[in-house]
Amino acid sequence: RKPVNIAELRRMRAAGEKIACLTCYDASFALLQDRAGVDLILIGDSLGMVIQGGNTTTPVTVEQISYHSKCVAPHLQRAFLVADLPFLSYATLERALDASQRLMQEGGAKMVKLEGGREQAAIVEYLSVRGVPVCAHLGLQPQFIHKMGNFKVQGREQAAAEAMLHDAQVLAQAGADLLLLECIPAELGARITAQSPVPVIGIGAGSGVDGQILVLHDLLGISPQVTLGHTPRFVKNYMAGAVAQGEKGGVIEAAIADYVREVKSGAYPAPEHCFETTVKR
Ligand code: KIV
Ligand code: NA
Repeated sequence: RKPVNIAELRRMRAAGEKIACLTCYDASFALLQDRAGVDLILIGDSLGMVIQGGNTTTPVTVEQISYHSKCVAPHLQRAFLVADLPFLSYATLERALDASQRLMQEGGAKMVKLEGGREQAAIVEYLSVRGVPVCAHLGLQPQFIHKMGNFKVQGREQAAAEAMLHDAQVLAQAGADLLLLECIPAELGARITAQSPVPVIGIGAGSGVDGQILVLHDLLGISPQVTLGHTPRFVKNYMAGAVAQGEKGGVIEAAIADYVREVKSGAYPAPEHCFETTVKR
């Protein structure tokens, strides 16, 4: 059980081994996820929704991400820990560096994640040349909710798709070591992945990417979104299957292990979890 690092993520991509990722916020789940073989764990600012109960991720602070990161980090033997840079914490180069320092030195994260395209290239480079590995989050960017008004699939039109493809290349060139694509047509996810020099993780980005991520509470079927009947298309509830199979031991651990297996085998995401395969021309 060697710890997963950036080199291992690159090796997995090159070998065609899918990378199984999941969000996590506390010690109990950290232990379960690490044991179940989750490769990468994200302290997501989704905690503003699934832990704090808000409608958006924008109130989340560096302090809070660092706190949850500290809850999780000591319990990981193998999984690679990534922490979200929350809303406005990377508005300037200095703020981005300060926030990353806290998430890595206090929180124990090995990489930080930020939202945005080529406009973030200078920040990605600033962090990267100082030894801060960065994951760039493209497609649907939840921190832009107040600019967008609502969330929808991104990159559906040809021009937007081409722009995202270009963003991905600019960000990798600036030093991003990982890309994350959220809610885009499956075809675009596959194209970006094919042209990317670094591993690409998807959520609602189809099966043609190097790995998948889900919000833990969605996988367990207990997030407020799911409970209130607004389940996103890409979400699969793994609890139902784990209970039905009568798995020995903990049902939650079995559900997480099931998710890891399905990501590795390619069974998840199935077509019903993907957005339209083609980009409008
Ligand atoms: O905050 C989060 O959980 C995320 C994932 C959905 C990718 O950014
Ligand atoms: Na996030």
